[in-house]
Amino acid sequence: MSRRWCKIVSLFAPGRNRGLRRRHLSIFSALLFVGASELTAAAEPEVTLRPSGQFVGSAGCKSSSCHGGAGEKRSQFITWSQQDFHARAFAVLVNARSARIADTLHLGQAQTSPRCTVCHSPLQSVEPSRLTTAAKTEQNVSCESCHNAASAWLRGHTRSDWTYATRVTAGMRDLQNLYVRANTCVACHQNLDADLLAAGHPELRFELDGQSVAEPKHWKDDPNSGAKAWLVGQAVALREMSWGLSRSDNPDNESVARWSALVWLLGKVTTGQTRMTLIDLPNGPIVRASFIDMQARTDSFARNTAALSLGETFARNTLDSLLNLHQELQQSSEADATIFRRAERLVPAVIRLATAAGMDSDTSPRPERAQVIEALHANATFDRPIFLKALADYRQALTKLPADR
Ligand code: HEC
Ligand code: HEC
Ligand code: HEC
Repeated sequence: MSRRWCKIVSLFAPGRNRGLRRRHLSIFSALLFVGASELTAAAEPEVTLRPSGQFVGSAGCKSSSCHGGAGEKRSQFITWSQQDFHARAFAVLVNARSARIADTLHLGQAQTSPRCTVCHSPLQSVEPSRLTTAAKTEQNVSCESCHNAASAWLRGHTRSDWTYATRVTAGMRDLQNLYVRANTCVACHQNLDADLLAAGHPELRFELDGQSVAEPKHWKDDPNSGAKAWLVGQAVALREMSWGLSRSDNPDNESVARWSALVWLLGKVTTGQTRMTLIDLPNGPIVRASFIDMQARTDSFARNTAALSLGETFARNTLDSLLNLHQELQQSSEADATIFRRAERLVPAVIRLATAAGMDSDTSPRPERAQVIEALHANATFDRPIFLKALADYRQALTKLPADR
């Protein structure tokens, strides 16, 4: 059988990084390859990083016989460079908004400040000895930011006698595992230092399923995996928020409100589920121990959920119970600000579950979907009745067969 090796492969000596010592790193340093940032300090979910290898840069993946070809099977580079937001993550740092944020925080230039590049241009934080010449010019969130440094597996991964498991053993990240995938994305997509937010950075809110569709995907997932991706993603988002709050001596009310809203949602989802542990608000006041406890619970919850099979029936039943929250939200004596934070987590949940249940679709979304998103205006202008009306309309629309649309 002929082996199809990419041209670039010949640039690298075979097995160059074999036998590197195994290291245990926190998932964050494993993902972001940096040592000093706020983000890297989490100790919780550990991964074993096999031969850590060097970064080869996305040019190493783009040959037309590899991932830069025209056919669906070889078009990953083209999808990424032409459509994926990550291919302009660095360019964002030179726009006016970034300049304003950097000015406010006295960071100098955003495009070279580690406070920004850690997420927007992650190879800047990598030790130079781990960058090949081609990778030195890599600016964006590129292939290896998600798939892991490739030198150790670049040569082998095209061999027909290598299975997916062989590739993963060689150091390619197991992104087919939704827990690993969620950990990869969330490292850049949930926690943001409070001063960045105050300086005008958009708020980050991680949601694995919808954001994968929006990326857009350059891969095919099991069509039945949407609800699970959504749930694993939400658990991992909550774990990160819990971790962030557990480290703060004086967490601000807004961050606690965002955290409580997600606990509220996951409480609704996990109530009565026999295959999952209940995620619920602690009895008594919310204190640091509540966040530490929630971090541990959501991590094992996410890990276990990634191994379950949660198909259309789960999606449909969960969707039903979430849509039934309409009345609770209407009658709740909680402040509108609290309802807003709940709504912010509820809307993507309902949309992802409706899609997973086959009642809505990303390629031809129901018009009411846009309206319910629209009704989620910024906190200051959130109007509970308008939101609830839009939610009711979406619910009503979902009961119609696609043919009625
Ligand atoms: C924790 C990771 C992280 C850090 C640190 C970070 N960003 Fe971002 N940034 C993101 C993500 C993720 C988005 C996309 C958010 C969205 O659109 O929902 C984003 C979006 C943005 C946007 C809006 C995008 C656009 O198209 O206009 C700007 C501007 C921006 N970041 C600038 C900065 C600057 C400047 C810094 C440093 C002061 C910084 N970011 C630090 C993750 C980060
Ligand atoms: C933001 C994260 C991210 C970036 C950046 C990224 N990928 Fe992926 N990629 C994924 C995920 C998640 C999957 C799905 C899991 C899988 O199939 O292994 C995937 C799957 C793939 C697959 C398998 C396709 C299939 O249908 O099974 C290939 C090949 C691939 N990526 C190549 C690339 C290349 C080449 C680049 C750079 C041009 C790249 N990826 C950039 C996250 C990323
Ligand atoms: C190394 C950091 C990093 C990783 C890992 C990462 N992203 Fe991003 N992502 C960013 C930054 C920075 C932006 C903002 C870029 C822009 O606005 O153009 C962004 C933007 C996006 C956007 C567009 C804005 C939005 O939120 O709708 C989507 C969708 C997205 N990422 C999905 C994902 C998914 C899915 C994964 C995991 C498979 C992932 N990202 C992994 C840093 C990252």
